[in-house]
Amino acid sequence: KGCKLVGCGSAVPELMISNDDLAKIVDTSDEWISVRTGIRNRRILSGNETLTGLALEASRKALHMAQVEPDELDLILMCTSTPDDLFGSGPQIQKELGCKRNPLAFDIRAACSGFLLGLTTADSFIRAGGFENVLVIGADALSRYVDWTDRGTCILFGDAAGAVVVQACNDDENALLGFDVHSDGDGQKYLNATIKDKEAEHVLGLNNGAAGFPPRLSSYSCIQMNGQEVFRFAVRCVPQSIEASLEKASLTSSSIDWLLLHQANQRILDAVATRLRIPSDHVISNLANYGNTSAASIPLALDEAVRGGKVQAGNIVATAGFGAGLTWGSAIMRW
Ligand code: ACO
Repeated sequence: KGCKLVGCGSAVPELMISNDDLAKIVDTSDEWISVRTGIRNRRILSGNETLTGLALEASRKALHMAQVEPDELDLILMCTSTPDDLFGSGPQIQKELGCKRNPLAFDIRAACSGFLLGLTTADSFIRAGGFENVLVIGADALSRYVDWTDRGTCILFGDAAGAVVVQACNDDENALLGFDVHSDGDGQKYLNATIKDKEAEHVLGLNNGAAGFPPRLSSYSCIQMNGQEVFRFAVRCVPQSIEASLEKASLTSSSIDWLLLHQANQRILDAVATRLRIPSDHVISNLANYGNTSAASIPLALDEAVRGGKVQAGNIVATAGFGAGLTWGSAIMRW
């Protein structure tokens, strides 16, 4: 059994925040941000917009391109670290799409590697049997956890959603050609947004400790990041991972038509392309418009490249996700 990609879609919020807008709230400039990162604008959820709403819009576009009805889905993987519901948004997507057969739907939480790990999970379910059509969504709203007074992080992130439909096929049509995935919890210190617990008894008016286990109120801290360490990790691990995926696919980097990395920083894209000797006009980048959209960045960039006619049927795309966890991985796929 094999897997092929049969549709993609994406969605971004209305509100656009430029570098100049950010320069009004923190000590930075359009020049610093664009030279160091390649980012010029980002989109941020506002008003009544929700992450689930963006994910639905991206999913409907992907299903339409794939000519797959919601009722034909066997599995929905919602890859996000910032769900509208702490318990997971996958089942809400299933409900809102109107999937009458109630396909299995759950969330995958792996920050900027979420979509890549969603693809590998879809591949595993399909190869295990019993799953024909899988919707893989990458969606994040990191703006919810950004410290808007920290110029080192608030300039980087934006909100978005992207989706692909992965379909079972015969071996000879297989289009997911090789994967390589990793994690290293030791690197969590370089990038995290951890739980902040505080005892809630004063809020509830309870006597401290009377019940033996006082109730707690929880929230998450804003994103904490050591940018230089994350940069070094990405430039070291991503080329190695792509080489490992190429080997599994029995290909070399000269077969790559498009390098489509998680859109974190233009300098990371350039450094990885140089290591792999991929010319810059074969590197897909939409960072300037959206910044780092975490799990959404790969399917968002893929969707734009497909609809814009860059990525064409039969092209070999090398993709890689990397980020908090630390987690990272790559895939070689034929569009
Ligand atoms: N505007 C102006 N100056 C700034 C800004 C800013 N927005 N941010 C930092 N600076 C200053 C620093 O304070 C520092 O000043 P100093 O020399 O006086 O101390 C100087 O600029 C250099 O700071 P560095 O942190 O060394 O800058 P660097 O070139 O490393 O760029 C950046 C920072 C853009 C964050 C870079 O390290 C990077 O992109 N790292 C990767 C981050 C990343 O991709 N994270 C997401 C991973 S995905 C996920 O899972 C969420």
